[in-house]
Amino acid sequence: MSQSIHPSVFIHESAIVDAGASIGENSRVWHFVHVCGGAVIGRHCSMGQNVFIGNKVIIGDDCKIQNNVSVYDNVTLEDGVFCGPSMVFTNVYNPRSFVDRKSEFMSTLVKTGATLGANCTIVCGNTIGKFAFIGAGSVVNKDVPDYALMVGVPARQIGWMSEYGERLDLPLTGSGDAYCKHTGAKYTLANGTVTKSN
Ligand SMILES: CC(C)(COP(=O)(O)OP(=O)(O)OC[C@H]1O[C@@H](n2cnc3c(N)ncnc32)[C@H](O)[C@@H]1OP(=O)(O)O)[C@@H](O)C(=O)NCCC(=O)NCCS
Repeated sequence: MSQSIHPSVFIHESAIVDAGASIGENSRVWHFVHVCGGAVIGRHCSMGQNVFIGNKVIIGDDCKIQNNVSVYDNVTLEDGVFCGPSMVFTNVYNPRSFVDRKSEFMSTLVKTGATLGANCTIVCGNTIGKFAFIGAGSVVNKDVPDYALMVGVPARQIGWMSEYGERLDLPLTGSGDAYCKHTGAKYTLANGTVTKSN
């Protein structure tokens, strides 16, 4: 398999990009990064120092992966996902060193625009909704709704976050409207779901 690295991609001389990997326009691969050959990485992404990207990994455009993050097999990041420094993905739910569980990897999907705070852990098999915000150090062990703000161990929802990253003045349940303090965009909560309407 040949490499498909766009000529504009910056790859630091200490990084290793295995044959077969695909990396889109203007992405940056910093010190000591290892990208495996099956990885597909979009445009305008940044992979900070000591990042690892596995084989069965798809990363969209405009993702920022901070230092010391390993994106293991069966993890998919849509566009604009922020992975804070030293956050942790997993892909085996019940690992045992004596038991081979390579055929039991569980998938993790992180939807567009989500932020995964520094040092958080995403237990495999869960989906992080679009523009969800996971606080630093949280442990996520269930699906997260779009725009939800989650903190703690285990992560609990304490609110809602706008696409810009501002808290929204909405209740956790019920219904209501709120406006992003920065952009003025309107968000509506109804039937447990937040949607942005402009
Ligand atoms: C979640 C966050 C954005 C704060 O949002 P906020 O709306 O300002 O929240 P507040 O600080 O008002 O906290 C609200 C409550 O949640 C708690 N809380 C906030 N962040 C928390 C976290 N990461 N873990 C656990 N609890 C947290 C607060 O202690 C507070 O609890 P209380 O009501 O019992 O006092 C911030 O704490 C955070 O985790 N940011 C991520 C930073 C990061 O990882 N950056 C990576 C790139 S450097």
